[in-house]
Amino acid sequence: MDEQIANWSEQKAKKELDRLHEIIKKADEAYYNRDNPDISDAEYDKYKQEYQKIEKFFPQLKRADSLSEKVGVTPTSPFAKITHIVPMLSLGNAFTQRDVIDFVDRAKKFFRHEKNLQLTFSVEPKIDGISASIKYENGHLVQASTRGDGEIGEDITANIMVIKDIPKRLKGEDYPKIIEVRGEVYMEHKEFERLNEKARREGGQIYVNPRNLAAGSLRQLDPKITASRKLKFFAYAWGYISSSFAKTQIEALEKFKKWGFRVNELTICASSVEEMLAHYHLIEEKRANLGYDIDGVVYKINRLDLQQRMGADSSKPRWAIAHKFPAEKAITKIEKIDIQVGRTGALTPVARLKPVTVGGVVIRNATLHNEDEIKRKDIRVGDYVVVQRAGDVIPQIVKVLIKHRPKDAKQFSFPHKCPVCGSKAVRDIDESGEFGAIWRCPAGLFCPAQVVERLKHFVSKKGMNIEGLGEKQIEQFHKEGLILTPADIYRLKERDEQSRTPLRERAGYGEKSANKLFLAIKNSRSVELDNFIYALGIRHIGESNAKLLARFYGNFANFESAIFRIIKGDEQAKEQLLSIDGIGEVIVESLVDFFSNKKNQEVLADLLKYLDIKPYSISEIKNSEISSKTVVFTGSLEKITRAEAKAMAERMGAKVSNSVSSKTDLVVAGENAGSKLKRAKQLGIKIMNEQEWLKIIEN
Ligand code: IVH
Repeated sequence: MDEQIANWSEQKAKKELDRLHEIIKKADEAYYNRDNPDISDAEYDKYKQEYQKIEKFFPQLKRADSLSEKVGVTPTSPFAKITHIVPMLSLGNAFTQRDVIDFVDRAKKFFRHEKNLQLTFSVEPKIDGISASIKYENGHLVQASTRGDGEIGEDITANIMVIKDIPKRLKGEDYPKIIEVRGEVYMEHKEFERLNEKARREGGQIYVNPRNLAAGSLRQLDPKITASRKLKFFAYAWGYISSSFAKTQIEALEKFKKWGFRVNELTICASSVEEMLAHYHLIEEKRANLGYDIDGVVYKINRLDLQQRMGADSSKPRWAIAHKFPAEKAITKIEKIDIQVGRTGALTPVARLKPVTVGGVVIRNATLHNEDEIKRKDIRVGDYVVVQRAGDVIPQIVKVLIKHRPKDAKQFSFPHKCPVCGSKAVRDIDESGEFGAIWRCPAGLFCPAQVVERLKHFVSKKGMNIEGLGEKQIEQFHKEGLILTPADIYRLKERDEQSRTPLRERAGYGEKSANKLFLAIKNSRSVELDNFIYALGIRHIGESNAKLLARFYGNFANFESAIFRIIKGDEQAKEQLLSIDGIGEVIVESLVDFFSNKKNQEVLADLLKYLDIKPYSISEIKNSEISSKTVVFTGSLEKITRAEAKAMAERMGAKVSNSVSSKTDLVVAGENAGSKLKRAKQLGIKIMNEQEWLKIIEN
């Protein structure tokens, strides 16, 4: 081909160069800006090589805006990050009436000192869309962002600007100088059908449900595309406000309406559990005819001062809960049962199903949980079963249709060795010394399946969040021996450069995707402490426990050395860890197991060379008298409940602990305080009564 090009006339070369220039430019646009490549990587590379060759043979033709040296590197996400001043929380779930009654009881108990308090609740449909936070200054829309991980979202101002439902300028004048209005961007069924129909005709991307299509539409780099898809918005909450504007949730919604937002008309104010549940059922009845998706109702304590007093735990408000609609169901056949080896070695049986659509999503697998569950439900290969799917959870098998059992349906015999590494499986032993239901492969990092699962967990969104390194890629790179440990991820680029089949030359890759991946890996080296602890994949350490640990220890060195002290038998270090509200013996044991494992130690030491783990910072008020102090409450409080005292302390940036130790900064003692107060006196720790405590809080 070189020779051919060399023989071209200058005119022909110019024409070809210009043609390729347009193709590459368009492809770059589609790839980087719309997350939606229009040609394959291989084709792209072919065009680019030819482009470069023409420039080589006809240097005089090189354009001022030449694309040949432009390396295909862009940020992993083209959207700027926005830190929410007030985090965007998620909601706890209620699935049964009992859960709702418990929620109301918890609230009543929280305020039990206020004898004449009549609690009321707003009841609102839970819209199944994408939440957004929209900031207004002096009534003008100035910024909008997605929820992201609740703390950091993406700047989607340009796209929010083109949604007709959302006012660019607030009506009236009684709005705070600065307010972030929050709510749900969603798409109606009609519009969803229209766009999918169009995509089908034109060979575009088909979306599985309105929610995904709405999400895809919000993440468009070109707002014209967003504008061409009709998105809608309901306002139901707010973030930062420069001054208060309502006393209740219902009043707030009325204000939103006056300012020009749409609020959901099915919202009511209920004054008893019975009314709440009755309205839930009413909304459930209307669900099918609403024209948009809802997945439950949300109950919120109506009075905002009471909401404020109840506060939130790490990610959910205590004053609100989502009551989910029952899962959707379908009937299908079990074709086969496989055993999957999880990240922590658990052997989980998975039913492979004849594909079936449940609530708009095709399902092919359902978890069978464990051996006992298969026996209890008498599940056999070949059976017809009822499957259900609720929200994002893995589909479940509800029951077997015994009447329809085929003659050749086969009982499943559960293997008692690891199907991947062959190790003899062991059964967990629970706290009472009994065998648990889970069989486990004990080989840890010596079992390839566990290695792969841990790697997948490591790179996942809540962990190191490496875009472009998903489950498939991890499996592939592991198979090739390119990534065997987490640290190998950070050696990937170097290894790739020496490889005979570098990524850029592989099918499905090319220079652009390869560079994009390397950049994402590089960016992940600077990581938040809680994300890192989560990424390690320690048993029982999920998102919220990782946060608790990060918050308590502040930096990784502190955390690690505390665990090593515990391993060496330091009782005080252990007590300290146990003093974190929410951390119990099981978790301590799991941390000890993880950190005392030689293989884990090696892998971790190797990994730490590549990382910059940021110290944990709390977003709450940092400079209060008690911020970052450890507080213990003891005895009975009179004015407020213990739960409220704890919520207050946390809001002010303090850590609340259950036991008194030398690390305790302050003990708040109510009536009849006993041993904790005594211990505090012995240790010379500052002690306060309820009155003094409330004074600090008021200040
Ligand atoms: S209130 C602090 N109200 O549900 C409470 N959320 O599962 C913030 N959602 O992230 C949420 N309809 O995206 C609230 N009427 C409603 C809602 C609603 C839908 C979504 C929202 C939130 C998610 C939590």
